[in-house]
Amino acid sequence: MIVILLGPPGAGKGTQAKRLEEKYGIVQLSTGDMLRQAVAADSDLGRRAKAVMEAGQLMPDDLMIAMIEERISQPDCRNGFILDGFPRTVSQAEALDDMLARRGLRLDAVILMKVDEEALVERITGRFTCARCGASYHDKFNRPKVEGVCDICGGTEFVRRPDDNEETVRARLKAYHEQTAPILPYYRDKGVLKEVDGMAPIDEVTRQIEAILAP
Ligand code: AP5
Repeated sequence: MIVILLGPPGAGKGTQAKRLEEKYGIVQLSTGDMLRQAVAADSDLGRRAKAVMEAGQLMPDDLMIAMIEERISQPDCRNGFILDGFPRTVSQAEALDDMLARRGLRLDAVILMKVDEEALVERITGRFTCARCGASYHDKFNRPKVEGVCDICGGTEFVRRPDDNEETVRARLKAYHEQTAPILPYYRDKGVLKEVDGMAPIDEVTRQIEAILAP
């Protein structure tokens, strides 16, 4: 199964991708997480990504396309994958079509998480994630079941992202409208775009996505 989760920053892509990963046994491919790993490793790519991400801008298409092409060639993607954060431009969407076609693969669904943007700043500035497995939580909307312990892996260390401040969130929203939203008509024209209500409670959003993916 190959699924794309689309939506602005804070729409809940990462939260839902982690749940789908568990349920369907397919891997989450988050380009944001890959870039954050490169930043943590202080590689050339990471040093470049750090400045771009903290400014709320997008990395160059060629780098991101090469990163995904290399990743989907790995054995753990054989059963399928959930794309979270890619594609983010029409060029990335076209390159993805091309790389899937060359492998004889096809997209099962492109799911747009529709949200009220006023709520996004609150969502993003309250977010924290498990330092070990990356599971996403929120100070108000999604606390771990046991305080201080990750529901998924039992980790006890949590981190907050440097780009999760209000000023950077506004720049990320601007980039979404200018560069990412144009891919919606691209997928709508292909008849693969589905929508879920990203403002519903997290479990309800999962139910809506599962209803789309049900055979
Ligand atoms: P990336 O890491 O992809 O960030 P993003 O798209 O801005 O998305 P977020 O991770 O902020 O939000 P999300 O939708 O995953 O929300 P989440 O589930 O965490 O990208 C970061 C940067 O990397 C980009 O700005 C860019 O610079 C670069 N980059 C990445 N990919 C690129 C590409 N392809 N091309 C170029 N550059 C690229 O949820 C948010 C919070 O809300 C959480 O706390 C969660 O618990 C809570 N929440 C979730 N759902 C609900 C709900 N239904 N109700 C209440 N609370 C909820």
